[in-house]
Amino acid sequence: MADQTLSKRAVLTGSGAYLPAQILTNEDMAKRVDTSDEWIVERTGIRQRHFAAPHETAAYMGAEAGRQAMEKAGLAPESLGAIIVATSTPDQAFPATAVRIQALLGATKAFGFDLAAACSGFIYGLSVADAMLRAGQVKSVLVIGTEVFSRLLNFEDRTTCVLFGDGAGAVLLEARDVAQDGPGLLSTHLYADGSLGDILYVDCGTDENRKPGYLVMHGREVFRHAVNLLAGAVNDALAENNLTAADIDLLVPHQANKRIIDGVGKKLGLPPERVVVTVHKHANTSAASIPLALADAIQEGRAAPGRLLLLEALGGGLTWGSALLRL
Ligand code: COA
Repeated sequence: MADQTLSKRAVLTGSGAYLPAQILTNEDMAKRVDTSDEWIVERTGIRQRHFAAPHETAAYMGAEAGRQAMEKAGLAPESLGAIIVATSTPDQAFPATAVRIQALLGATKAFGFDLAAACSGFIYGLSVADAMLRAGQVKSVLVIGTEVFSRLLNFEDRTTCVLFGDGAGAVLLEARDVAQDGPGLLSTHLYADGSLGDILYVDCGTDENRKPGYLVMHGREVFRHAVNLLAGAVNDALAENNLTAADIDLLVPHQANKRIIDGVGKKLGLPPERVVVTVHKHANTSAASIPLALADAIQEGRAAPGRLLLLEALGGGLTWGSALLRL
């Protein structure tokens, strides 16, 4: 007989997505820098990206995605407990983008804060929300990834400016008492290696020598680390839950590069139909990429109730992590 003991879990009750209307194809990029559709598709799988208009800030887009997630869950804004925003492109140093979003949503009882873990920010956000929900601090948390990376791009550097896009994705997590085989976050694993900080960074802040600047990336170095570190995070998630890759219904990876996504999928032995890919239409939207991919898979019916999802990401820091989630 199945174990009927109930335990408190963070259950996904709604998701949302926002993409700016403006789309730039690879051909559009080739008008701005010395590149080609062929090069970009072959090296990255990217075919187009969305770029934000001036009013489409991280807070604006994050609020749109967050509102959708709450509407799908049927949760009134004034009932929301907390907002966690993963972003590297906040509207301001402070107030936090999460607090701007709180005002836009009318989530008057929610507290909120931003979390900086670059492209891994959404996984980090899930992990913090999971702990808050299981500890009973709040009953609901909106976790949002929202980015306007187009504003960080150096259009003199063709090796980076073709890789990124803008957008926002959100999930609403609510504390529920569920059976062992019920829905919710089963685990999160977070990692960091600050000694690799200089292979992917954006200068900004109060250091006199590091005035606000553009995104800098040593792509080959990042690539070299990515597949192995991600495979490690994924294997830790499986081992902790006594699962194998065969148990995973859907891999929802950070959408940086099709070759990295394929590399992890291959290491796990997952067929392409069990791997969510949106990088061709969104490019790399950093902390927004996983919730955008998730919302896409939910809309298509691929991520349906009962399915077991494995989420993974790696980004500047380096930071990386994984999350195992049953819908
Ligand atoms: N268009 C055309 N040619 C380009 C180009 C572009 N946009 N960008 C670089 N090139 C050229 C280079 O100048 C170089 O030419 P050369 O051999 O004449 O010097 C050649 O393409 C190869 O460059 P290289 O940087 O070695 O390419 P690569 O195969 O490593 O691919 C990346 C570059 C960025 C696509 C790849 O390194 C990558 O995906 N890295 C991981 C990046 C990532 O996902 N980061 C995000 C993590 S969150």
